[in-house]
Amino acid sequence: MNIIRAKDYEEMSRRAADILAAQIILKPDCVLGLATGSTPLGVYARLIDRYNRGDLDFSRVSTVNLDEYRGLPAENEQSYRYFMDHRLFRHINIRQDHTFVPDGMEPDGALACQTYEEIIRGLGGIDLQLLGLGNNGHIGFNEPGPIFEKETHPVDLSESTIQANARFFEQIGQVPTQAYTMGIGTILKARKILIIVSGSGKADIVARAFRGPVTPQVPASILQMHPDVTLVADEEALADLPL
Ligand code: GLP
Repeated sequence: MNIIRAKDYEEMSRRAADILAAQIILKPDCVLGLATGSTPLGVYARLIDRYNRGDLDFSRVSTVNLDEYRGLPAENEQSYRYFMDHRLFRHINIRQDHTFVPDGMEPDGALACQTYEEIIRGLGGIDLQLLGLGNNGHIGFNEPGPIFEKETHPVDLSESTIQANARFFEQIGQVPTQAYTMGIGTILKARKILIIVSGSGKADIVARAFRGPVTPQVPASILQMHPDVTLVADEEALADLPL
């Protein structure tokens, strides 16, 4: 695994944006796997800057997001579709019909997930998957559990994830308890993976994920088995990871 040590959140964002930009320049019709959460916000802001400067063209890029809350419509400000539209897509020249997020409003979970897998397959797979890291080691919404789930599937969010995401909602009771997420197998099929982590609160889980045993109890630990992973993290997040 390639580890890039950044001084702080700003540098982490800049370095990760460099890698995504390089992917788009090298393959203008690439398929990017994208993530939500607070960590990627700085990366998206930098991609928008580069687009505004005329350095990046998204007109042939396609994107597939990792996950979506179940039951939140696209207009809901907390849905991941809303997040992506407002934090990135509306500010660049990507075609809206080239952007994909699991359909959280499809009540038939099996159908929603199978459709999403077909979309990813139809695009020819993911060239570069951007990931954040949940406090409990989740990637996408693959929560700690007894097995690594392979394909896109419905999940019950863990209590710690519901608590962590409560900061975006007015009341904890409004936080969805279920989501649709790409599976670990779907993520591992990406040709390249870029995982970004920031802050001292993630130092322990970074060490467990990248130096500990590979176990579904720490879903991100499976990334140790992928041939092309780049971890871009700031000093605080890397504090427990020996050089
Ligand atoms: C959510 C998302 C994950 C994300 C995680 C970490 O649970 N489903 O994809 O990586 O949050 O979020 P943050 O970057 O805000 O710490």
